[in-house]
Amino acid sequence: IPDYVTPGGVVTQPLKHSIGLFFFFPGTCTALLEANGTFECSLRLCFCFNLIIISNPRLLSKPQRTLRGKTYRTDESKPWVLPVVKKVEKVIVHDDTLNHEYLPILGLPEFRSSASKIVLGDDSPAIGENRVGAVQCLGGTGALKIGAEFLRRFYNGSNNTKTPVYVSAPTWENHNAVFSNAGFEDVRPYKYWDAEKRGLDLAGFLGDLESCPGGSIFVLHACAHNPTGTDPTPEQWKRIADVMKRRKLFVFFDSAYQGFASGSLDKDAWAVRYFVSMGFELFCAQSFSKNFGLYNERVGNLTVVARDADNLKRTLSQMEKIVRTTWSNPPSQGARVVAVTLNSPQLFAEWKDNVKTMADRVLLMRAQLKEKLQSLGTPGTWDHITDQIGMFSFTGLNPKQVEFMVKEKHIYLMASGRINMCGLTTKNIDYVAASIHEAVTTVQ
Ligand SMILES: Cc1ncc(COP(=O)(O)O)c(C=O)c1O
Repeated sequence: IPDYVTPGGVVTQPLKHSIGLFFFFPGTCTALLEANGTFECSLRLCFCFNLIIISNPRLLSKPQRTLRGKTYRTDESKPWVLPVVKKVEKVIVHDDTLNHEYLPILGLPEFRSSASKIVLGDDSPAIGENRVGAVQCLGGTGALKIGAEFLRRFYNGSNNTKTPVYVSAPTWENHNAVFSNAGFEDVRPYKYWDAEKRGLDLAGFLGDLESCPGGSIFVLHACAHNPTGTDPTPEQWKRIADVMKRRKLFVFFDSAYQGFASGSLDKDAWAVRYFVSMGFELFCAQSFSKNFGLYNERVGNLTVVARDADNLKRTLSQMEKIVRTTWSNPPSQGARVVAVTLNSPQLFAEWKDNVKTMADRVLLMRAQLKEKLQSLGTPGTWDHITDQIGMFSFTGLNPKQVEFMVKEKHIYLMASGRINMCGLTTKNIDYVAASIHEAVTTVQ
């Protein structure tokens, strides 16, 4: 069974029959053995029956594919341990100076500072002015959680439960829950996705920034917007920043895909760096789940850019209290892997190369899917497939077409039409493209 159930890979129809038979099999054997001792004969029969079904080409001809995954997969549909991570893990295991004592409540200092540097840039004036600090968190989710808890307690006075928190429509589903769970009672959507033109609804976005209550909190995806894969351009970010500055709105960046979107760490951090250069005080939740492939190590960082050094000190001291009652002390392994990598020029270069490998595979799948749809003459424009970036793409398929893909083609995607580009491989892309073509041409 495990061979069939490869994540993101092919699951064949006869699986159901085989499972049934294998479950049935021990009962049959026992019954027959007890009845007349023909155990060996029934054993052979059962094996033959299973083999016939498994090797029947007609039954094998309906491949199922899942494009619903949330993580990176190789062209073989396998998870990928980054070579640089493997290397650093060996270094860590052989380092006799390390132990399993508790880390400081705010985390590993060399992790926190290097993580903040990759998002703000080595030469960030804010770092030079000692007004940048960080909290090591349990993944990007933990960073959002600590930031949300802090804002609910201290953002503007001591009771912020009524302060509106705006999340994009649509957004990563956990944003709503994390902020509500921290006590915010008014989590609202801001306009982001224009389904008609399959792109950013800039006018709607700017309109919501203009009309929201002053001082509202806005969660902005730093790059590779999940789930639409659509980011504002630098010019559009500038217009967004202008309104946010004028209206004194709070910026909470969520950076879960740095490097993954374009293959370049700097390019993917452009928006955050621009806002800092404009003098915003802000939070940035960073996740290293995707760009280091460290999903289960729960490694994230909450970068705090404060007004001044004193303000930073007070903020971190309150965050320390929040962490103490949340997870008390963070885990070390993932943070050590990231810190060792980011603090060595050679390993850092290797990591950037590994990230680029992942980003390039996604870009290749995007280019091939678009090209195949265009050459099939699939109605509609497919430029959005390559205009969007990062792991996810909003295909634009409507709910009925999605249902057709799932039921008739055994291609699994989200009801919203979102696919994970990493579910595509050089082996299944023709089938997926042909199925999209059939969905678009036969189902309205
Ligand atoms: C936009 C966004 N933010 C945060 C996260 C959470 O990341 P982590 O797994 O590090 O908690 C994700 C993960 O899918 C995400 O897509």
